[in-house]
Amino acid sequence: MGIVICPKCREKLSVDGNSLKCVNNHSFDFSREGYVNLLLTNKSGDKKGDSRDSAHARHNFLAKGYYDLLKNAIGKKMQGTVLDICCGEGYYDTYDGELYGFDLSKEMVRLAAKSNKNGKYFVANLSQIPIEDKSIDTAIHLFAPFNDREFSRVLEDDGVLYSVIPGENHLIEMKELLYDVPYRNDEKAPDSEILQLVEREKVSEKVHISNDDLYELFSMTPYFYRTSEENKNRLKTAGDIDLTVEFVILKYKK
Ligand SMILES: C[S@@+](CC[C@H](N)C(=O)[O-])C[C@H]1O[C@@H](n2cnc3c(N)ncnc32)[C@H](O)[C@@H]1O
Ligand SMILES: [Zn+2]
Repeated sequence: MGIVICPKCREKLSVDGNSLKCVNNHSFDFSREGYVNLLLTNKSGDKKGDSRDSAHARHNFLAKGYYDLLKNAIGKKMQGTVLDICCGEGYYDTYDGELYGFDLSKEMVRLAAKSNKNGKYFVANLSQIPIEDKSIDTAIHLFAPFNDREFSRVLEDDGVLYSVIPGENHLIEMKELLYDVPYRNDEKAPDSEILQLVEREKVSEKVHISNDDLYELFSMTPYFYRTSEENKNRLKTAGDIDLTVEFVILKYKK
């Protein structure tokens, strides 16, 4: 696990049998799927919302390929040592070089480790990433909380962070079915005084989506909990539609 450090004392971790150990004998076991839990508390993300069910719902939806455009665009950016920050189920981890990924949700990390045998995965919180300073060439970060202090710390001096946010028209046809006045995403890049935004690239396409998949996607969004039964039914009876998927890839440097 080369650049992974002990969450207790920040010394290097190395493989010792079925565990990772530091010089101070802190030890963390590999799971059956090959990931390591480096959280020092029991408060993994599973209890904070991203439950097993929602992890599986995301996994099944993403496997259908509606977001492949983004997967390909991000795949082309990866070089050197790569870190997927808040990797979720590791859907975007198509790289066959050195790749690390972590998430607060154990179930997500389990799915990531199971489906990407090349990646080295661990459960961790982005507020204290157990990775050595200046060890990452390419960090990717999709639809997740931002922490520029930690991102900057783990990046090499010439390292790059690609952070992805939804584009203004992302899922707009779904919102039009749900609301009289659908709002568009503001595409606001996270502000940072430590990292500089050097480029923004938009990727966008229309995908043909079945009504069942559309409803499944909707149930994974935050809109689901704020929508009336009547409007939910509007979506349920809409049939297949052409749906815009649109993302902004923000490139940051130190
Ligand atoms: C919307 S999901 C995106 C997952 C993945 N990047 C993707 O696009 O498929 C947000 C992820 O951020 C993770 N997350 C939220 N807060 C976190 C934290 N403090 N540390 C690590 N991961 C966190 C969640 O567990 C969840 O998997
Ligand atoms: Zn230690």
